[in-house]
This record gives sequence, structure tokens and C-alpha cells, in this order.
Amino acid sequence: MISHSEKETYEFAKNMAKNAKAGQVYCLSGGLGAGKTVFAKGFAAGLGIDVPVTSPTFTIINEYIGELPLYHFDVWRVTDPDEMYYTGFEDYFYGGGVCLVEWAELVRVVIPDFAIWIKINNVGENTREIEVENGHFGV
Ligand SMILES: Nc1ncnc2c1ncn2[C@@H]1O[C@H](COP(=O)(O)OP(=O)(O)O)[C@@H](O)[C@H]1O
Ligand SMILES: [Mg+2]
Repeated sequence: MISHSEKETYEFAKNMAKNAKAGQVYCLSGGLGAGKTVFAKGFAAGLGIDVPVTSPTFTIINEYIGELPLYHFDVWRVTDPDEMYYTGFEDYFYGGGVCLVEWAELVRVVIPDFAIWIKINNVGENTREIEVENGHFGV
């Protein structure tokens, strides 16, 4: 889809979250300023989370309690995918909540095959192309 505004990306993510099921892993890829965190905020809203959602760049994982638990990752600071083992990510990826991973392409070796990939391309000041693919990273 083409998003023409931050709000449109937020609403798209919010609707997607309404169909989220326990155990799903959503991977967000796209450069700095693409709108991954905007997407995460909308996604959290769709799960009924009404506390402010901020990017966990320094903490790597933030946990939120919604209709399902949401584990929001930002792995931008992870320089080696092996560092992911210190986060205990397996308990989250293979647990009972929903995971949303910003910068997932940096740690794709640890991303499960069943993950849903959301690729956000910055194609203009307020325009973003959002592609959704199930199960693989198709580039
Ligand atoms: N269509 C759009 N969708 C999402 N963000 C947009 C859009 N147009 C402009 N923006 C702006 O782009 C920025 C995205 O920031 P952010 O979500 O923090 O990016 P990321 O987490 O990918 O680094 C915000 O300042 C937002 O207002
Ligand atoms: Mg971000």
C-alpha cells in the first residue's frame, strides 16, 4: 500500500494489529525515519495499548500489556546477531505474545521462518510504500 501521511501508516498498523494472533512475529525493515516506530505506535493502539510507545533503542525490548502482550524490539544497536541471545529473544519469539521487531533485517539469522515482514520504503517526504510478506524477506 502507499501511505501518504504518518496518520495513514498509524491506522494501517492499527488495523493489522486487530488481526494479530499470539505467537506472531512482525518484522519491520526500512531505513532511519522510514516510519517503523510510527507503525509500532499504531500497532500497539490496535492491541488496545494506551500507554505511550517509544522506540526501545537502548533497551532493545519494551513490553506492553494489551489484549495480547506486545514485545517491541529495536535492534538498531545490535552489532552482531549473536548479541540477541543476551536478550532472551527466544522466550519472546516463541512465547504467547506478539513481537514487533524494528530493524529486523540486521538480525535476520535469528528471525523465525514464520515471521511477517513489513518493508517500509521512503519514497517522498510524506509518502511511504509499505509491503507485507509472509514467511520470508523477499528482496
Ligand atoms: N507516510 C508516513 N508514514 C510514517 N511516517 C511518516 C510518513 N510521512 C512522514 N513521516 C514521518 O517520518 C518519521 C518516521 O519516524 P520513525 O517512525 O521514528 O522512523 P523509524 O522508526 O523508521 O526510524 C516521522 O517523523 C513521521 O512524522
Ligand atoms: Mg524507530
